[in-house]
Order: sequence, then C-alpha cells, then structure tokens
Amino acid sequence: GNRYTGLIGAYGDRLPLTPGARPISLGEGNTPLIRLENLPVARDRDIELYVKYEGLNPTASFKDRGMTVAVTQAVAEGSEAIICASTGNTSASAAAYAARAGIKAFVLIPDGKIAMGKLAQAIMHGAEVLQIRGNFDDGMRIVKEMAEQAPVSLVNSVNPYRLQGQKTAAFEICEALGAAPDYHCLPVGNAGNITAYWMGYSEMVLSPGQAGTQACGFCGGDCQFHQGVGGKRPVMLGYQASGSAPFLRGGPVSHPETLATAIRIGAPQSWDYARTASRESGGWFDEFSDEAILDAQWQLASHEGIFCEPASVVSVAGALRDIDNGQIPAGSRVVCTLTGHGLKDPDVAQRHAESAVSTVDASGAAVREAILGKMG
Ligand code: F0G
Repeated sequence: GNRYTGLIGAYGDRLPLTPGARPISLGEGNTPLIRLENLPVARDRDIELYVKYEGLNPTASFKDRGMTVAVTQAVAEGSEAIICASTGNTSASAAAYAARAGIKAFVLIPDGKIAMGKLAQAIMHGAEVLQIRGNFDDGMRIVKEMAEQAPVSLVNSVNPYRLQGQKTAAFEICEALGAAPDYHCLPVGNAGNITAYWMGYSEMVLSPGQAGTQACGFCGGDCQFHQGVGGKRPVMLGYQASGSAPFLRGGPVSHPETLATAIRIGAPQSWDYARTASRESGGWFDEFSDEAILDAQWQLASHEGIFCEPASVVSVAGALRDIDNGQIPAGSRVVCTLTGHGLKDPDVAQRHAESAVSTVDASGAAVREAILGKMG
C-alpha cells in the first residue's frame, strides 16, 4: 500500500543512515504548505506567500524531522540513551522519539523559561528533565561535555543527523511548488534549521556536475544525495528576536532575552553554516521586538486561521516587512517556515490576544443580546 510512514520511508535514499537501521518514526513530515490569502501586503503586491506549517508534526514542531533521523542512527549505533539541551521543543521531540525507541532521554532546560506545553510533553514522554540554573547556551556547553564523558548520544543540531532530517522540509517544498521558492524566511535561534534548509535546497537544485563551480557548502557538491532538478536556490532570510539577536550584533549575546523563549539563544552552534547560507544565497538577517512578534502572531491567527508559537512567526513578520519595504520584489514566491504550534505556549497567546471572553447569563436572551452587540 502507500501508507505514509514518515521521513525515512519517504526520503531514506537521501539520508546517510547505517544500512538496515530500524526507522524510529512517528509519521513526521509531509506537513501542509498553505498559501496565505488574507494578509493585505501579500495580496496587494502580487506576492505568492506560503507558510510551511511545521506545527503539524507529531510533537508539534519541526524538530521531529531531525529527531527521527538522529534517534534512528543513535539506536543503530547501539545507544541506550540520548541527551540534549533545549529551549523546549527539542526536549519534547527527543523525549517522544526516545519513548518510541525504548531508550532513555535526558533533557536540560533553562530554569523557568520554557513554555508549559513543551515541559508537559517532555514529562509525559518519560524523559529525565533537568532544569539548570542557567540558560540554553549554558545547557549546550554542558551536554557537549556529557556526550564525551557519559554513555549518552547528543541529539542537538550539532549532531549532523539532525540537520540531515531537517533538510527534508526543503525537499517537500520543492516538490509542492515544482521548484524552489525565490525567498525562504526562517526564525533563527541555534541556527540549525537555516543550515538544514540551505543543505536541502542545495541538494535539490544543484546537480553533481555543478560541483566544481557552485559547491553547496556542506559536501563540496560531490555527495551522492544531490538530486540535480535544476533551477535556482532561494534567497535565505533569517529573523531573530531583538533581545536575542547575535547575527544582528555580529557576535554572541551574553544575556539573551525574549518572550519567544524557543529562540532565546545568545551563542548559536551553527553560526558559521548560517552565515555561509546567508552569504551564498544573497540573503540577510533582521530582528523584531517582542511586541512586533506578538502582533504578527495575532494577525496570522485571526486573519488566516493559523496558530503558531511566538518564535515561529518572526518568519512571517520578516516576510511582510521585507515585502512592504520592497526588499522582496513584487511577483516573488516566498515561503515562511512556521516552526512550532501555537498550543505549545498558550499562556503568552492568551495574555496578548485581542479577543476578549465575555461572561453572560445562561439564557437565550443574554446570548442573543451578546451576538447582536458583537455583530455591530
Ligand atoms: N522556532 C522554534 C519553535 C524553535 O523551537 C526553535 C529552536 C527555532 C525556531 C530556531 O531554530 O535553533 O534551528 O535556529 N528551538 C531549539 C530547542 C533551540 O531547543 O527547541 P534553530
């Protein structure tokens, strides 16, 4: 039959896994690419604006793409435990895939700065949750040490299998559109995902024959996975929260802050790769205040019916700003990745939503009056 069985089923031939590895999958990937129809900027400027809704993965973020591949490989190599540092989503995903594989997960999270939904996931999937008195960057330093000193496999995006899995989102987009888009917009935190997309687009678009002239930057263009469908790669646009914007400051930020806690990161691990992707593609980085992020989250949810977490929506905020100021020209095809579901972090959304809850008497008359009042 043709039951969808996840990324390894769909793209195993383009993933460098140990042959015969047992896939650890929850049916991740194959997420919708939704064209935005109601946001005025896109409509007026003749822009084809899409969102890749990664919040519809099994644990509700894009991390599952990388985790299926990283955990599959870890198990194939005989690993009995995985470890990661996380602002929340990686820990939720690691916990779920470890549960699926029947191995242990250790997750280090920053003290008090992770969204409730993500913490609940890690706990429910049976992970050992270690809340550290420090931030994500501290956690990253420690888990890298642990991977050397303890019998645990590191599944942060410094593990190359993570990026291999995440590159498949670019494959799906090219397949859905018949080509790469002109621009691809992403939130940037630890900078793994922008690296993975650039790798995926490079593999889709560059042919092995182009290796000498236009190396993809990761394999030198000679890897066996290049597909060679032709066309060109997108311009890669990376957006950050102003309080956690090392790519805008030109170096690490020592006390990152933002209510978009998923991207509260000051020292991105894939710094060089992300800079390469941006430079090679002719892209740029930009930043948004927390207030602008919440406003964009509300716009997208209330005008398009798509609820994503605050960190995700900087991709759309960025696209809208750059369309509006003409840096993305009319007629362009633009894809924004929505990295995580809005239900991950209901507290932040509820506090800032503009729709109010009205309390009325439990009578037809009271509800009728309320309806007529709201219809204006
Ligand atoms: N959006 C969301 C919802 C995320 O959870 C993350 C990263 C990013 C964007 C940024 O992606 O790190 O590849 O640049 N979350 C990691 C975590 C750090 O621990 O869950 P990136």
